[in-house]
Amino acid sequence: MSERHMKLGAFLMAGGHHIAAWRHPDAHADAGSDIAHFIELARIAEAAKFDMIFIEDAAAIRERNADLASQAARSTAFEPLSLLAAIAVNTTHLGIVATASTTYNEPYGLARAFATLDSLSGGRAGWNLVTSASELEAKNFAASGLRPHSERYERAEEFADAALKLWDGVEDGAYLPADGAAFADRTRLHPLHHHGKHFAVDGILDSQRSPQGRPIMVQAGASDVGKELAARTADVVFAASQTIGEAQAYYADVKARLAKYGRAKTDLKVMPGISPIVGATDEEAKAKHRALQELIPDPVGVALLASYLSIQDLSSYPLDGPLPEMPPTNLIQSRQQLIVDLGKREGLSIRELARHFAGARGHWQVVGTPVQIADAMEERFAGGAADGFNVMAPLFPSGLQDFTTLVVPELRRRGLFRDDYEGRTLRQNLGVGAPASR
Ligand SMILES: Cc1cc2nc3c(=O)[nH]c(=O)nc-3n(C[C@H](O)[C@H](O)[C@H](O)COP(=O)(O)O)c2cc1C
Repeated sequence: MSERHMKLGAFLMAGGHHIAAWRHPDAHADAGSDIAHFIELARIAEAAKFDMIFIEDAAAIRERNADLASQAARSTAFEPLSLLAAIAVNTTHLGIVATASTTYNEPYGLARAFATLDSLSGGRAGWNLVTSASELEAKNFAASGLRPHSERYERAEEFADAALKLWDGVEDGAYLPADGAAFADRTRLHPLHHHGKHFAVDGILDSQRSPQGRPIMVQAGASDVGKELAARTADVVFAASQTIGEAQAYYADVKARLAKYGRAKTDLKVMPGISPIVGATDEEAKAKHRALQELIPDPVGVALLASYLSIQDLSSYPLDGPLPEMPPTNLIQSRQQLIVDLGKREGLSIRELARHFAGARGHWQVVGTPVQIADAMEERFAGGAADGFNVMAPLFPSGLQDFTTLVVPELRRRGLFRDDYEGRTLRQNLGVGAPASR
């Protein structure tokens, strides 16, 4: 058995990550509103011993373009913390990671909600900290619209520090101390007195310290300031990279930032996305992929591409021509660059890029047999590009089942993935160690 096992997360998204999943004959078209569907997916992931499931979020519908919104089946979603509370009581070992925004929350409220999720799951919660780049989301909270990138990150830095201190403000054994003298041992409670630029918090969380110390911190920012925040505070980073070279560069970059915060390279797990399309044969996998791609109407693909490029519209450009020059963006800078690079590298037209992106939304897609997919994952895992993967099945539940029943056994055969959970908490299973209680 290999010393180092890859970490696996299942990135769940209603009917599937493929933009046209809801139109597929096997689709569960109402998936975004069906709790039984999400519980089924969580149980599939847990039976396969996945480290975690992950729920993305924006407090808004996902598409600003009406054509796209009406075709994309991504406009109904459960609020992640509420969804994961339901999943917590239907699972026992699986990590549950919810996205929540530092731009539209306050540290006390969110730290409290995650402390609750962590406690009721027995130490399995994680927080994907996002700064929220969606303009639609901004409109739901502030008349002034989306705040600048730098301001969102400045707020995120202060937010993360306050949340971490709130969780660390309650020591192990602070309540019901062994001597039975009192309900709370006040020497083990450390109120936070935070008066910063964005927040004021004077208080202490109304919960016990979690079985895993505090929730796992996850981030997925790829800008310089995003990677720096991750290096300082995150246990896991998600990423989107197409080529192994891009993935290796991202991996090396984030890991190199850890030392200045007194952290070891193993303290932060890098888990890029993979969109696997699995077939018993290569031909079967390609046919599955084709069947999904043919369901994407061009206007939907092009509108989705425009939204990932953070521009209003691409429809005035010839579909079979190259991408026009892109203006600078305040939204997701890294994703725009990734698309521009891919278009240039492979000489893709707008139509081709649109189809490509609609499929896996900029993530790495592998179409093949279990052996081919395991080869590709092993190459990145062994080649300094990943500590694990965030698996983004194109279609749920069948795409996740294909992965767990066909690819996971192949990974195990190679000694690359666990046979059973190492522990009960997400922190134990990820192997990132419990933070010291202060
Ligand atoms: C796998 C993955 C999942 C993400 N999930 C979310 C999400 O749920 N909500 C969100 O607002 N942003 C999400 N993002 C975006 C990032 O968190 C980040 O905000 C974005 O990349 C902009 O920051 P940057 O400029 O530092 O890259 C995700 C990114 C990746 C790669």
